Amino acid sequence: MRITDTSDLWWKSAVIYCLDVETFLDADGDGIGDLEGLAQRIDYLADLGITCLWLMPFYPSPDRDDGYDIKDYLSVDERLGDLGRMVEILRLAHDRGLRVIADLVVNHTSDQHPWFRRSRAEKDPAKNPYRDYYVWRADEPGDTSAQVVFPDQEDSIWTKDDKTGEWYLHHFYRHQPDLNLDHPEVVAELLRAVGFWLELGFDGFRVDGVPFFAQGPGKEGGDDLVDPHAFMKQLRDFVQLRRGDAVTLGEVNLAHEDQLAFFGGDAADEFHMQFDFIGMQATYLSMARQDARPLATALQERPELHRTNQWATFLRNHDELTLDKLSDAERQEVFDAFGPEERMQVYGRGLKRRLPTMMGGEPRRLRMAYSLLFSLPGTPTLYYGEEIGMGEDLAAEGRMAVRTPMQWSATKNGGFSSARPSRLVQPVVGDGYGPEHVNVMDQLHDPDSLLSWIRTLIRIRHACPELGWGELEILEHDAGPAVLAHRLSLESTAVVAVHNLGADPVTVTVPTHGFGGDPRVVDLVTHDVLAAPGTEVPCALEGYGVRWLRVRPTGDLAVP
Ligand code: NOJ
Repeated sequence: MRITDTSDLWWKSAVIYCLDVETFLDADGDGIGDLEGLAQRIDYLADLGITCLWLMPFYPSPDRDDGYDIKDYLSVDERLGDLGRMVEILRLAHDRGLRVIADLVVNHTSDQHPWFRRSRAEKDPAKNPYRDYYVWRADEPGDTSAQVVFPDQEDSIWTKDDKTGEWYLHHFYRHQPDLNLDHPEVVAELLRAVGFWLELGFDGFRVDGVPFFAQGPGKEGGDDLVDPHAFMKQLRDFVQLRRGDAVTLGEVNLAHEDQLAFFGGDAADEFHMQFDFIGMQATYLSMARQDARPLATALQERPELHRTNQWATFLRNHDELTLDKLSDAERQEVFDAFGPEERMQVYGRGLKRRLPTMMGGEPRRLRMAYSLLFSLPGTPTLYYGEEIGMGEDLAAEGRMAVRTPMQWSATKNGGFSSARPSRLVQPVVGDGYGPEHVNVMDQLHDPDSLLSWIRTLIRIRHACPELGWGELEILEHDAGPAVLAHRLSLESTAVVAVHNLGADPVTVTVPTHGFGGDPRVVDLVTHDVLAAPGTEVPCALEGYGVRWLRVRPTGDLAVP
């Protein structure tokens, strides 16, 4: 391939940043973040270097699942602003070179959505055109407790509706009935919403809860009610027709082979991107063990993707840090290392913590973790506050622990809002990770801050298309299992990243094969040109140390 090929498919070399408008910046002083506040911070995000903003649900909602319970797909929660403000955000972001994607929640609505209100009013579909918008059954469902997503709140995926005496399906909370994605009118309504946001200027969607689209087992406990791939193909086709360069990014926490199916396999006609949940969980296992092998294996076992597809890599998101794809013993290892107390754990499968507390406040280890994230093949995704090392509020209910207000400064409410603290949408983190210790203002102009480190990592990504497009090779070396050395190659250039997951210093002999003798090796962080006699270069790494090297043939004058 040629370097000019990388000018298409923008998502393959993007850096994504996820935020919830209501916890980012409150401009009108009511204690709730808003679009006017976000507008004031678009330049901060552009300066950080991110290229794509993912907005968590901003739609009108009773807010019983932090906005993932939508009651109107075509407008904006009035606490956050209105469509006019949203257009301002899109315009501002686009002017600063950022794309914007919206969370798209099509698996379910809120039970307050007018469709569900109408659906439950009359059980005869002949009399009620909305009845089949949702999934109903007349017979007793039996025990489905093993299938619920939130076992602390629900014990069945079916709830009996008093109005008609029938049960409706909901994989998540009972106030989130699952839509019938096999119903042409439902699909048409959802595509209308997709078209609406694309027309307004959104550049794509993060699609929520994909594994549940199948809505199986069916009424008799048999096959799935919905073919999720048929739905996805329709969605992808529609998105592509309306906007050739819009992206769909799936939340598909499934085994790699099932993810491949959701990419559309060789046809690549479903998702453009999916989060790599398997790789993320292997990263934590590797960090817990100080042994790079689980991560190396997960990377090598990733299925090969069509050239238009991409993995989205991440270390943290707004949910529990799920470890559901590890074995019980492996999960326990991660719990022991990063969240040993019960109050740090949730749903028996995940952690309520953010990275800095998991890393025991050890800055070198934290920086190594982010360096690792940015070095992996794929598109890195940050969750707001990660760039400054925000902590969590363990006193908050479940997943709310990591949804605290953004910490801008050491002033009142961390500079998030001028409201009385009791009026804030969520309390600000109060302990050693509170705004007095962790905030943007203090880090912005400090070259040694985590924020500056993240900016450096993003700068490297922008200068190295190998990272988003290159071919992966896990390098053999002599420094023991704590070290991951991997290389991403594109044409006649490569980036080699070396990460020490262990606490002890090591020296690694890094192979630089494939470029003839004495290749040109540059340290991408320090800009030093390294002596690399022959086809290997010695690299000394501190405990939790990292090195980023660009390798090119001798005499190559490529810049940077
Ligand atoms: C996945 C989202 O990430 C999560 O926050 C939400 O609760 C469920 N989907 C239900 O919408």
